[in-house]
Amino acid sequence: MDSIRILGGKPLHGEIVIGGAKNAALPLMAAALLTDRPLTLTNMPELADIGTMANLLRQHGVRIDRSDFGAGSNIAEAGPTGRTMTLTADKITSITAPYDLVRRMRASVLVLGPLVARMGEAKVSLPGGCAIGTRPVDLHLKALEALGAKIEVQSGYIHATAPGGLKGANIVFPKVTVGGTENLLMAATLAKGDTVLENAAREPEISNLAECLNAMGADIGGIGTGTLRIKGVSSLRAARVPVIADRIETGTYAIAAAITRGKVKLTGTRYDLLDSVFAAMRQAGVIVEPGDNSVTVSAETGELVGVDVMTEPYPGFPTDMQAQWMALMATASGASMITETIFENRFMHVPELTRFGAEVNVHGSSAIVRGRKKLSGAPVMATDLRASVSLILAGLAAEGETLVNRVYHLDRGYERLEEKLGACGAHVERITGG
Ligand code: UD1
Repeated sequence: MDSIRILGGKPLHGEIVIGGAKNAALPLMAAALLTDRPLTLTNMPELADIGTMANLLRQHGVRIDRSDFGAGSNIAEAGPTGRTMTLTADKITSITAPYDLVRRMRASVLVLGPLVARMGEAKVSLPGGCAIGTRPVDLHLKALEALGAKIEVQSGYIHATAPGGLKGANIVFPKVTVGGTENLLMAATLAKGDTVLENAAREPEISNLAECLNAMGADIGGIGTGTLRIKGVSSLRAARVPVIADRIETGTYAIAAAITRGKVKLTGTRYDLLDSVFAAMRQAGVIVEPGDNSVTVSAETGELVGVDVMTEPYPGFPTDMQAQWMALMATASGASMITETIFENRFMHVPELTRFGAEVNVHGSSAIVRGRKKLSGAPVMATDLRASVSLILAGLAAEGETLVNRVYHLDRGYERLEEKLGACGAHVERITGG
């Protein structure tokens, strides 16, 4: 298994190109199942999770063609990553999403809504628990039932049937769910009649999906709000849609600049995708300057102060930035309280961060971080995706050598991380195998 070796303590300086958002690309790829016409996605990231979704979709009969024009190739249509993917689901050859593919990635459950809407039937392996909590899909299933699907869970599979097609309904989500909103949005586009999704998630990735569906001929209103109104249509058409910038990758590299007390320009991204994180960074003393499709982050003056944050659904502080924020706070003066409200078991990075000398105490869903002037490099073990990157960030700030073991999680969500950090002066190398 690969590990990453870091020689820390060096301020980062330079420019980093941000890729397309993994969490936008995955539902957009699943949306291709809704039509027999091609869907072309531009600004695609190249990540392990994208490969997993591509394998799953191929297995359902989707043809996938990729083009790589090269990052920064200036082919405006291919987006900053220079990569496009065309998915054509002219024939669905299987309505089953097998255990072996679903267990690798929870987002596989996003094929459920589109398959049952188009084919009247879908069988999807239940995504199991995962490192950051139990993460059930009960809300997806209840909402699909409200659209008239019959759902049975048997032998580890969700079996959804709607032989006469789905029918529009009013759905109020009891809790904000990103994946649930996406699954229902896709299913409702092909339902008969009107659907209203209330207490819908408002993440930018949801808007990206809704705009993609509209470009394919769907009729979705209320985009960007907590109430989505969908008028069902009988079929969808071809479209070409850009994947939005990855706000979590943006925030992660913004923190890399701040935690090393350097200055980095992040390009191919937007300030407004990450207001809550940038606001907290400014409060901590980081200089954040929005530009034209870019954001420049600097903390060269050194001293940062502790700032409390609480994770919340968008536009609140994202749970996917909580671990990275904790690493930054471990280097700020004073205390900060970090409260996690989305997932119940998302502090697994804490024992690893303390190996750098960070002082963190967890009380239920809150952690108190008391910052230190200096962290020191240490051997650590990566757990989930965002926890892994928080260890890389701590390693960049720490004096001496850090070895982050078991980094395969990183490849699920960060493209060419060593190269991007290395171009800004970081000493980061991947050690293959071992
Ligand atoms: C998505 C993101 C993930 C992010 C999360 C929250 C993708 C591929 N993943 O995950 O990176 O951390 O949003 O911003 O986009 N819940 C239920 N029942 C359900 C569904 C969810 O109880 O049927 C709970 C979950 O356990 C969790 C909360 O609702 O406590 C939010 O989960 P949800 O928004 O659905 O997260 P994901 O879509 O899985």
